[in-house]
Amino acid sequence: MTRPIGIHDLAVATTGYVLALDDIAAAAGVDPAKYRIGLGQEQMSVPGPDEDIVTLACAAAAQIIGRHGADRIRTLFLATESGVDQSKSAGVFVHRLLGLPDACRVVELKQACYSATAALQAAADMVARRPDEQVLVIASDIARYDIGSPAEATQGAGAVAILVAADPSIARLEDRVGVFTSDVDDFWRPNDRLTALVDGKASVSAYLDGMTRAWDDYRARGGVPVTQIDRFCHHQPFTKMAEKAHRRLSEHTGVALDPTLITGSAAYNRRIGNSYTASLYFALASLLDHDDELAGRRIGMFSYGSGSVSEFFTLVVSDGYRARTRGESTRGMLAARRPVDPPRYRALRAAGASVRSDLDVSIAPESPGSFHFIGITAGARQYTRR
Ligand code: CAA
Repeated sequence: MTRPIGIHDLAVATTGYVLALDDIAAAAGVDPAKYRIGLGQEQMSVPGPDEDIVTLACAAAAQIIGRHGADRIRTLFLATESGVDQSKSAGVFVHRLLGLPDACRVVELKQACYSATAALQAAADMVARRPDEQVLVIASDIARYDIGSPAEATQGAGAVAILVAADPSIARLEDRVGVFTSDVDDFWRPNDRLTALVDGKASVSAYLDGMTRAWDDYRARGGVPVTQIDRFCHHQPFTKMAEKAHRRLSEHTGVALDPTLITGSAAYNRRIGNSYTASLYFALASLLDHDDELAGRRIGMFSYGSGSVSEFFTLVVSDGYRARTRGESTRGMLAARRPVDPPRYRALRAAGASVRSDLDVSIAPESPGSFHFIGITAGARQYTRR
């Protein structure tokens, strides 16, 4: 008999600082309701000088290694669209900092916010071939848009680490998936830019188009009717986007989908902001932590990465999943972030943008976690664990 394969554990991390969107609304003369209601966002996580996608990835994945050890991990996929090097995978830094086995392959994947889903599917296929092995998938991103742009309020940062294994404790992946790719300039980040370029309205419409096309492919490939899906997690660049997606899926399928089927998925992203590749998996973490009735239920997952690639797939939640949820610890982590005001947030952004690979620099650890970016030496990024 084929063994089920899927998510055996999942852990999240975000930055040490937080900015209230009411504060940027006040500074910009915008009605705060535009962010709270119009976008469905309350806060954004803001990285300190010693935090980047490597330290966030380590902070998430260290929890998994602490619970399960690393002996069976033979592959690490790091998904990001805010990578720190054009050649070396950020995962290689993570591999050393976490003490993963030498006998391990490490690779970085990129396709905007989508690539963690490709990593998850590839990981499941690897485990299907060798069920005694585990794959560590980490999605880690820092969303940066131009200061003062309409997208600024949707920034955020965070990482989600997922342990993919046979006989998973949290949820099994089902085989049927729907995929869709279309070359569209809705959101992108050229190599010489730290901030993304975006056509906001076009991106919303490309996302919704990708969702219906991925859904159609899912159904054409034998996926279940929408009435057999019990909850939904849609990619959340801002949480109101998931509501738009849910309404569109309802219109597209002609089935009146209950709006509460997405309610549990928004709690973390409202307070973190967009974490690009990690956003869909923060939505899943939020749902698992806020819904006690998920055992045996099917969750529909919609993953979107601008540019664009879309995928619709499903998970079925394991009976004992509640023993693996960590809502209290995640809510504690969010509450422990130190507030920054708009001037301090802008100063942190400017300091981050001034770090260049051709200048040696030393950065003092200041964030509360164990993993820190400590500067550049001879062009190479330096990290420490303490
Ligand atoms: N009270 C309540 N609601 C208000 C309001 C107020 N005072 N003022 C405005 N609103 C509402 C508007 O009615 C609107 O709601 P609807 O979309 O339901 O109509 C909402 O607030 C946003 O208002 P605008 O459309 O005027 O906002 P904007 O044009 O200034 O910016 C945005 C919105 C285009 C999404 C912008 O934030 C942006 O560019 N974001 C980045 C791109 C993005 O996230 N795209 C999503 C799809 S792409 C993707 O998913 C990949 C990814 O992760 C980036």
